[in-house]
Order: sequence, then structure tokens, then C-alpha cells
Amino acid sequence: MPLSDNMGHGRLILENAPEGVGIMKITVLGTGMVGDAIATRLIKLGHEVRMGSRTNQNPNAEAWVKRCGHLASQGDFANSATFGEMVFNCTNGATAIEALTAAGASNLAGKILVDVSNALDISMQPPGLLYGRNTSLGERLQAAFPKVRVVKTLNTVNCKVMVAPRQIPGAHNIFVSGNDPGAKTSVSEFLCSFGWEKAEIIDLGDITTARGPEMFLPLWLRLYGALGTGAFNIKVVR
Ligand SMILES: NC(=O)c1ccc[n+]([C@@H]2O[C@H](COP(=O)([O-])OP(=O)(O)OC[C@H]3O[C@@H](n4cnc5c(N)ncnc54)[C@H](OP(=O)(O)O)[C@@H]3O)[C@@H](O)[C@H]2O)c1
Repeated sequence: MPLSDNMGHGRLILENAPEGVGIMKITVLGTGMVGDAIATRLIKLGHEVRMGSRTNQNPNAEAWVKRCGHLASQGDFANSATFGEMVFNCTNGATAIEALTAAGASNLAGKILVDVSNALDISMQPPGLLYGRNTSLGERLQAAFPKVRVVKTLNTVNCKVMVAPRQIPGAHNIFVSGNDPGAKTSVSEFLCSFGWEKAEIIDLGDITTARGPEMFLPLWLRLYGALGTGAFNIKVVR
């Protein structure tokens, strides 16, 4: 389904972008390296992007706006959530529910929430998982915000790989999990605009399937330690 159908807005189709990805107003909640990487990539694709934080004067967000120019703006979580037609959750996974509560359930209702967060337990090294086995952060967010269309994706790769997957040679995979098929199609089109190939995107199923990609983190962290770089990904071979 083209994004414009989903969002109820007739919008420009981007040059060089996969069919269906139109210019949009997008919210990126999170001012860390992931929020910065995704928000910057979205600006380069021509979208209007607002970066959200606990305050409306976050120094990282201010620096990002300065760097990215007229399509970039910043606000607190609630103001930013109101702005976007689609929302990326790039907040700390351990406190993501608090961040989205501050963003406001009514400001998020009906929108796609692309959840790239991981709920890490940093009381141990390397970090462990706060949730796993019988639940996931993706499911907890979907349950806490039932009117939001949560799509879990991109959490299995470093933020530089998220937005520039072709820096890894050859084909490699990324996963999507979510209850709303239309939302997953729209997010997949976005992933293609970031540089992912359609054939590399694996739809795992409903939001309960976010458990697997979230439980991949302990292996990702060990691979990071062993390889000494975050510039890697996995390929599913069959
Ligand atoms: N680093 C990677 O390459 C990578 C890869 C895959 C997934 N992830 C996941 O992506 C997410 C973002 O990672 P990151 O390293 O960019 O940033 P981060 O440091 O994990 O999170 C920063 C964001 O979380 C917000 N935050 C922190 N404590 C909060 C609280 N108590 N209540 C509400 N909001 C709070 C911050 O708000 P303020 O703006 O107000 O400070 C900030 O916007 C994480 O969930 C991480 O696990 C990271």
C-alpha cells in the first residue's frame, strides 16, 4: 500500500525513491545517535522531520537542527508526536514507555510507530535484556498504546547500517514485526528508501514476533565484541 493511501495525504513521490514513498512530516523521538542517524537520513530524503526530547531545548536536537536546516525542527515529546504523520521510536528502551506516555497516546493514535528500540539491562556487562522469553518491548508498547500501529524493525543492526545498509557487502537481512499488514508494507517501503532491498526484508508476523529480533541482541553484542566493529549484519541462507 503506498504511504500516501495510508496517511490520507496526496504527497509528492520522491525522485529516486521506491514507488509509493512520498514526502511526509515525520517525528523522530530520541536525541541519541540512533535518532540523529534516522532523522538525518529522512532529511536527506526530503522529509520534514521533528526530533523529540524530554525538553524542547535539548542540546543534541539543537545541534542537529542547525546541521540539517529548514526541514528540521525540534520539540518536546508531545509537541513532536503531534507534528508527524509517522513516528520513529529511537528512545532508550528501558524508558520507552515513559517517553511515549509523555508523547501522548492521543497524539500517537492511528499513526505508525516504527520501534527501533532495545530494552537493555545495563546493570551487567555486556548488557542483558529487560524483557524476553514471554514478551518483548514491541509487544509492551503495542499493549500500552493499542491505537498505535507498532512495527518493530531495524533494532538488530547498528544505526549506521540502519540508514546505509549497502555499506555491508552483499545481501543481508532485516526483519519487520507488527499486527497491521498495511503498516508493515509502508515501513518496508521506507526501509527501501533507506537502501534496503525488498528481498532482504523478512516479515516475521505479528508483534509477538518482535521477541526474536529483540532476543538477538545478546548475540549482536558478542559479535560486536568479537569483530570490534558495528558494521556487520546477518544473512539468512536457505
Ligand atoms: N546505537 C545503536 O546503533 C542502536 C542499534 C539498534 C537499536 N538501538 C536502540 O535505539 C534506541 C536509541 O539508542 P541511542 O543510543 O540513540 O539513545 P539512548 O541513549 O538509548 O536514548 C536516548 C533517548 O532516550 C530518552 N530517554 C532517556 N531516559 C529517559 C527517561 N527516563 N524518560 C524518557 N525518555 C528518556 C532521551 O531523552 P532526552 O532526549 O530528553 O535526553 C533520548 O531522547 C535505544 O533503545 C537502543 O537500544 C541502538
